[in-house]
Amino acid sequence: MTILALETSCDETSAAVVRDGRILSNVVSSQVGLHSEYGGVVPELAAREHLKNLLPVARAALSEAGAQTGQLDAVAATQGPGLPTALLIGFKAAQAIAFVLRKPFIGIHHHEAHLYSPWIHGNPPATDFSNFQPNVSLIVSGGHTLLVLVEAELKHRVLGSTADDAAGECFDKTGKLMGLAYPAGPEIDRLAESGNPKAFDFPRPLLHDATDDFSFSGLKTSVRYFLHDYPKLLDDTQKIHDLCASIQAAIVEVLVTKTIRAAKRNRVRCVTASGGVTCNRVLRRELEQVCKHEGFTLRLAEKDLCTDNAAMIGILAGRKLLHKMPATDLDAEIQPGWVLA
Ligand code: KG4
Ligand code: ZN
Repeated sequence: MTILALETSCDETSAAVVRDGRILSNVVSSQVGLHSEYGGVVPELAAREHLKNLLPVARAALSEAGAQTGQLDAVAATQGPGLPTALLIGFKAAQAIAFVLRKPFIGIHHHEAHLYSPWIHGNPPATDFSNFQPNVSLIVSGGHTLLVLVEAELKHRVLGSTADDAAGECFDKTGKLMGLAYPAGPEIDRLAESGNPKAFDFPRPLLHDATDDFSFSGLKTSVRYFLHDYPKLLDDTQKIHDLCASIQAAIVEVLVTKTIRAAKRNRVRCVTASGGVTCNRVLRRELEQVCKHEGFTLRLAEKDLCTDNAAMIGILAGRKLLHKMPATDLDAEIQPGWVLA
């Protein structure tokens, strides 16, 4: 079963070829540089860039995989959630390719695909569900922060999500307050390495809340007031490192504590994580330490599969076809606000 998958939900144009659960190619063209001067993703620019890049990226994915369009058994694309005009480009292109090839088309929920990316490992990367365990999965990126109970393959229930800013958005917006370029997450991660995480005490929103929900806008506001009160702090390089480490510590503590608590409450022995923020070194380290201490199996998505990519879309489409789930109509529409249930 060979699948061509396309992903254009935000600011990465990506195409992948997946055969029988193995990723033969996963080409990602990132638009980060394009949006950085605006401090965030500009939807119309993203859509235009997807339109320009999609076919070259898809051709590169096919060529890297050594695959011809005639060998494809199905075509998949992200159906939602995401930026409407960005989603449209990949989704409609995939439907058109499926129509011309007379092959099944599969529309995929972006977050559902993130749920299974921690199960992809090796060279070439492949899914291994032979030791699948029920798990609590943390999906954490610039657009979403979700805790999901994955009871079995293709069977999940959302436990909690963010009421306002996502964790990645909190990294990006607090970084912007410090004058860092968008997206600030990776830079905060780097600067925090030589900072003291206890230097400044920022709030840990909803840490002791009984729900599995998150809220990061209060933390952002508190950094804003802090910088208003101490404007000279940004003139001191060490203090910038300390500030980055302190903000990061607050975000990571909330993510790790709530994930572990949800895993215990739901009596699972496995924790997984994916999404761009899962690249964060302290988050990975803390999850590793706590899971080891608690006796949980931890599966972190590999770094190139944490951020948005078409391979995870193709992998999930393959599993759906394997489980004889129905294909998506060729005239189905994108679902920009599709909420994972
Ligand atoms: O999954 P992703 O590529 O796109 C979506 O938002 O869907 O995630 C991008 C987010 C950005 O907010 C970025 O700042 C954050 O992930 N990020 C990080 C790191 N690498 C990426 N945040 C903290 N530390 C990192 N190392
Ligand atoms: Zn994502």
